[in-house]
Amino acid sequence: IGYVGPATNPDEVLMSGLSSLEYRGYDSAGIAVANGNLRIKKREGELNALEDAVEQYSFSGNVGIGHTRWSTHGPPSDYNSHPHTDEDETVAVVHNGIIENYQALRDELTAEGIEFTSDTDSEVVPHLVAKYLDEGDDPESAFLRAVDRLEGSYALACVVADEDAIFAARNDSPLVLGIGDDGYYLASDVPAFLEYTRDVVYLDDGEFVTLRPDDYTVTTADGATVDKQVKTVNWSAEQTGKSGYDHFMLKEINEQPTSLRQCLSGRVDELTGEIAVEELDDLDTPSAVQFVACGTSYHASLYAAALLRDGGVPATAYLASEYATANPPIPEDTLVVGITQSGETADTMSALRDAKSRGAETLALTNVVGSTAARECDHVLYIRAGPEIGVAATKTFSSQLIGANLLVEKLLSETDTHRELITALRDLPTDVQTILDESNAEEIVEQFLDSTAFFFIGRGLHFPVSLEGALKFKEITYEHAEGFAAGELKHGPLALVTANTPVFAVVTGNDESAQKTIGNIKEVEARDAPVVVVTDGESDAERYADAVLEIPETNERMAPLLANIQLQLVAYHMANRLNRSIDKPRNLAKSVTVE
Ligand code: G6P
Repeated sequence: IGYVGPATNPDEVLMSGLSSLEYRGYDSAGIAVANGNLRIKKREGELNALEDAVEQYSFSGNVGIGHTRWSTHGPPSDYNSHPHTDEDETVAVVHNGIIENYQALRDELTAEGIEFTSDTDSEVVPHLVAKYLDEGDDPESAFLRAVDRLEGSYALACVVADEDAIFAARNDSPLVLGIGDDGYYLASDVPAFLEYTRDVVYLDDGEFVTLRPDDYTVTTADGATVDKQVKTVNWSAEQTGKSGYDHFMLKEINEQPTSLRQCLSGRVDELTGEIAVEELDDLDTPSAVQFVACGTSYHASLYAAALLRDGGVPATAYLASEYATANPPIPEDTLVVGITQSGETADTMSALRDAKSRGAETLALTNVVGSTAARECDHVLYIRAGPEIGVAATKTFSSQLIGANLLVEKLLSETDTHRELITALRDLPTDVQTILDESNAEEIVEQFLDSTAFFFIGRGLHFPVSLEGALKFKEITYEHAEGFAAGELKHGPLALVTANTPVFAVVTGNDESAQKTIGNIKEVEARDAPVVVVTDGESDAERYADAVLEIPETNERMAPLLANIQLQLVAYHMANRLNRSIDKPRNLAKSVTVE
């Protein structure tokens, strides 16, 4: 959030803006106000920790910026909170996104004698701006020059002592401008200033904005002015936080093109085909891999283990709560990977601790920086999905599948499908967007409002997706749903299949495995069950279907991820139609910290 205008107590504007943005991050927060010098307060923890600190402090001035953090580099702490400053505290900066070349910039600035006070990637920005100010640049060009050095994603806002202005820039991370009667506002999302104005300017990638009390200008990197349209949004303040979506879950489903891009950012080089995951540099190839996880994360583990086995590495997925009793032998050089969105699930932590005490090397594949799993494991790979509020995991599952691919490519030197995978990863955000734009899931569920049970079937990598499709469905619709390996249906579950039990079958490609699943579809069709196929259209599965959910053609490892997006939408629309409590389903919690 940023504010420039006549208000003499900008901290109030900033704090109310941050409270609307807290859903985007809630591990630390801070504000900076420029008034001759810079006044800065920041605190680890939820926003009320900062509120207490701000109340005891007098802020006056006309210009300020603020931030709620959701960590990507460095654990939550006062010193890692934004705004970050240069050594003299003449420049303060808030940042969303990831500066991919921060290490090189940090090394360069450190060699010049600059001391860093945080672990963040963001801190390079105020030091660069200060450096160019020292070289004689005016604040605006110092900011432009600093941003020109950055690679990665950013929404940046910068204030400089003695300057009644905010300098901001956007690349791959949202930034909007609010045009009020009483000043200008800047935020990563409209709700932050909705109580002051509904007139907004959406900034595009590569654009810069300078806000002064009586004027604002939007330019490109070379200083050319861009004529921007002012749009009026018709949101009410109550919709804040959900960005206009009815539920956090739907918002999070729709965020997947962005969250997946963020997960891949700086890790996959499309030109060279190289996958470089800095965090895994010191990970040696293990003799065997065991995964431990719960719920949705267990389904990601089944997928990950299958990929590794396919590459010749012995790998098994365990339900974390069963790990101790399963008591699997841990051969020398075994890597035990905990897949956990929150990094706090007690069952998963317990399994990881057990494995570690028995000599295994451990790795956390998690979404939450500084979480218990991240701190306790020997290695950590972040999936960078951003905060997920809806209890039913959606965007974190798709990012876990990508995290699994990054890990697998690191552990297997060169897979046969490597090149094909790189292309599929490049196209992934667009493919997901196509599904989100064109899905007919909402219409399809209308036919099944009176059905008695719902089955999900798939084979190979689609088996975990079938389990996940059913889990999502039962979690939020409260209807009976089960996922099965397609071939297992005839060994028992078929007894439950009737005209009142729709079967969702995932079939992609047209190999022997797809043909076998089509055989299973015919078996349920013969028992009068309505069949919905999720398919890329490669086989003739559609011929046996009552309805089709299409996905774009892609690599075989990405097809399960795309199919899952359709099944997320099926669960969401059914639950919405049945008026269920979608974001907070009964009896469930986002993070379960008891065994
Ligand atoms: C809870 C949630 C599930 C989640 C599971 C594992 O049961 O309700 O949605 O999949 O925990 O959570 P984790 O944070 O470890 O991925």
